Order: sequence, then structure tokens, then C-alpha cells
Amino acid sequence: MPSSRSSRPGIILAGGSGTRLAPATGAFCKQLLPVFDKPMIYYPLSTLMLAGVRELLVITTPTDAPLFERLLGDGAQWGVHFSYATQAQPRGIAEALVIGESFLAGRASALVLGDNLFFGHDLPTLVQGAMVRARGATVFVQQVAHPEAYGVVDYDAEGRVRDIVEKPAVAPSRWAVTGLYLYDADAPALARSLVPSGRQELEITDLNRAYLQRGELTVAQMGRGAAWYDTGTPEALLEAAQFVHALESRQGLRIGCPEEIAWRQGWIDTEALQRLAHPMRHNGYGRYLLGLAAP
Ligand code: G1P
Repeated sequence: MPSSRSSRPGIILAGGSGTRLAPATGAFCKQLLPVFDKPMIYYPLSTLMLAGVRELLVITTPTDAPLFERLLGDGAQWGVHFSYATQAQPRGIAEALVIGESFLAGRASALVLGDNLFFGHDLPTLVQGAMVRARGATVFVQQVAHPEAYGVVDYDAEGRVRDIVEKPAVAPSRWAVTGLYLYDADAPALARSLVPSGRQELEITDLNRAYLQRGELTVAQMGRGAAWYDTGTPEALLEAAQFVHALESRQGLRIGCPEEIAWRQGWIDTEALQRLAHPMRHNGYGRYLLGLAAP
């Protein structure tokens, strides 16, 4: 499959027990819940597709895997390729690199959390620019009002990154680490060598700190023109849905549409876009796609 020069395989982690969203997650995992007009996983998937990623591994729970396969298929309809793997227990985000080791086959990777939603005109350029670096890791950070819920960057007086701390009681800055990470080929081995945390998880923050200690961590700041939501609580889910609704209803554009991105990237042609839209022609999503394809 041809891919753009700086592209690399991507992993979407869509597992977890979703306890903070129960009972909404009683039958299936949160990444299948809608954020306004489309399944949550469409948003992080779109972020990777916009960065040129076409080869993707979806890691989910054994019971949710058939549901994701029904939703996403093998990816051919969008000019991408999906593989699937399972994480039996929620043993941490960094375990995704271990589970994905054979899929990655010694290549650098992009990892995104299936409940993170990114929006911003300049983001694809920022991510693609970071992908050019073959060595080391890149994390993307953004300022938030309540950083204590996240990994947080500790900057020294000169603005150099001193540390990253996971869910600190007192946050050293307002720069939260988002759920989008770029890693070089060493990540699976490094993740494997991590010591599980108190909650028995391989912490992604520990992996990032390992890169920091090697002097190989890039911390890329997302500017205030970018939006980032994680959707792990009912309130956060509603806020993200309201954001998507506000943008889409005002601009008449949709965000997080894999069909549109595949078409704009030139991975599928107009006829294929029309074929995908046809079964949805009686709703707004389908009409939007048909409108794109109209001459
Ligand atoms: C995880 C990471 C945290 C990161 C966040 C982004 O937290 O551990 O470092 O800031 O994702 O969404 P979790 O949402 O699993 O609590």
C-alpha cells in the first residue's frame, strides 16, 4: 500500500473497563459510544488519517473486538488497513506497544487513545512534522484548566522539560499530556521493561519519562487554536459532543469523518465516496458526504 513519506503505522487503544461511564458502558466499551453524530473512535482515527497513517492496529477488549470489526471492517472502504488485537485486562496504555510489537515489526509508531478528540487547523502539519523524526518520542501537550486529571509537564525556569508527572495532587504546570504519542522503534522493548505502577498498569507516563531520561523526548505544544477533549466521564462526553455540534452546525462542515478524509487524501475516489454515502443518504451525515462528491 503506498503511503506518504513520513507516515508510520498507528495504534488506536480502545479498551479499558469504562467504569467512569457506567452504566453507559454496560454492553460495550466507551469508544463505541457516539460523540454527537459518530462513534467516538472516528475522531482519534481521523487524527491519524489526517497525519497520513494508513496502517492501523485497533486494540480492544475480547468482547468488543467483534463490534469494532463490524464497525470498521478491514479498512479497504476508506483506503486504509485495520488489524485487530485484544488487551484482556486493562494493564495500562504502555502495554499497547507490547501487544502491537509484531504489528509494528521494528517500525516507529503513532499511538492514540480511542477516547481522545483533537481538532485544529494546524494539527495535521504539527503531527506530520514530528513524524519526520525517526529517533525518540514526541508527546503533544495542551494547557487545561484542571491538569490534575492527566500527565502534566514540569518545566524548569528556562522552559526545559524537567519531568512528566501522572495525575499530580498539585500540578507543576497547566500543560497536560494528551493521548497522542509518537514513538521510535525502541518503544515496545522499553515498554516491556517498565515496572507496573501501584495500580498494576504499565503507565504511558513512565514510558515517556524513559525517553526523557535518554534525552530523546520532544514535547510539542498544541497552541490555543487547537481543541482537545478526552471523553472519559459523562460531563466530558457531553462537552465534546456540544463542541462537535457547535462547529458542525455553524460551519456546515463535519469533523472526524473518515470517508471525507480518505477522499481528500486521495485514498478513495469520488465514486467510492458516493457508494459509502448511499446507505446514509436519508440522514445529514450521508447528505454531507454526497454534497462533497457533487460536482
Ligand atoms: C491517560 C494517561 C495520561 C494522559 C491521558 C490523556 O490517562 O495516563 O497521562 O494525560 O490519558 O487522555 P487516563 O485517561 O487513562 O486516566
